[in-house]
Amino acid sequence: MPANLIDGRAIAAQILGELASRVADLKKRGVAPGLAFVRVGEDPASKVYVGRKEKACAELGIFSETYVLPEATSENELLALIAKLNSDPRLHGILVQAPLPKHISESRIYSSVLPAKDVDGFHPVNVGKLMLGDATGFRPCTPAGVVELLVRSGVKTDGAEVVVLGRGNIVGKPMAAMLCQKGKGANATVTICHSATRDIKSHCLRADIIVAAIGVAEFVKADMVKPGATVIDVGVNRVPDANSKTGTKLVGDVDFAAVEKIAGKITPNPGGVGPMTIAMLLQNTVRASELSFN
Ligand code: GUN
Repeated sequence: MPANLIDGRAIAAQILGELASRVADLKKRGVAPGLAFVRVGEDPASKVYVGRKEKACAELGIFSETYVLPEATSENELLALIAKLNSDPRLHGILVQAPLPKHISESRIYSSVLPAKDVDGFHPVNVGKLMLGDATGFRPCTPAGVVELLVRSGVKTDGAEVVVLGRGNIVGKPMAAMLCQKGKGANATVTICHSATRDIKSHCLRADIIVAAIGVAEFVKADMVKPGATVIDVGVNRVPDANSKTGTKLVGDVDFAAVEKIAGKITPNPGGVGPMTIAMLLQNTVRASELSFN
């Protein structure tokens, strides 16, 4: 792998290795960490993501159960399932895969998961704790994974100018909140850019670190990146591709081939942020299991 690539697969494997001994300790104490997945509808990307998370659980020795509900499921039916999972002592974590069908309020659903089982970090209590710098909460997996990538690949965030592209609840907003906290892998000066930002390029050109989570295929071009900057690509976008059998391919939010030549460090995509999201989910689940003793 070229020197400037941040290898998310290798870093995630390192984290999973660390978690294996914690899972073994839990098992000695008679506890098998348990995680429930809930998927509503047949969104193809969600099927793939939940499948990967199930496989990672099985490999680490985390017990998991997946509930697949039809697209027409009502909000009340989904709330009833979550209430059942909240009170199931075998389960330490609950993950309701987003996006949910339009007729279901994501905020009502995420608010109904017990904060102690909210391994996604989406419940308002955990979101509030993140804003307050209170480490007792659960942090959302993708931005937490980005922080780990930066720390473990020696990228200095202290005093750095960071541009976060995107203001979504799953990545952009929590990413900015994490990076501006006091502490390790943080202490940065953070700018959030979004669809209403004037002249995104001028913000990007100042950045020591760009985190792209804007959901636009190959949005970050080489002329938007300061030479030597670190570029983290969170995007997963399906685009037409005449050369592929399916007629489509997946690309990130970064024009990798061009930006790689300018960046000091860059995540490949795939193989960058994706494996870290899963590693952080498993870390949150192991932690939720450990906390269930107290
Ligand atoms: N959809 C995309 N990313 C995520 C995630 O981190 N958690 C859940 N629940 N859904 C997602």
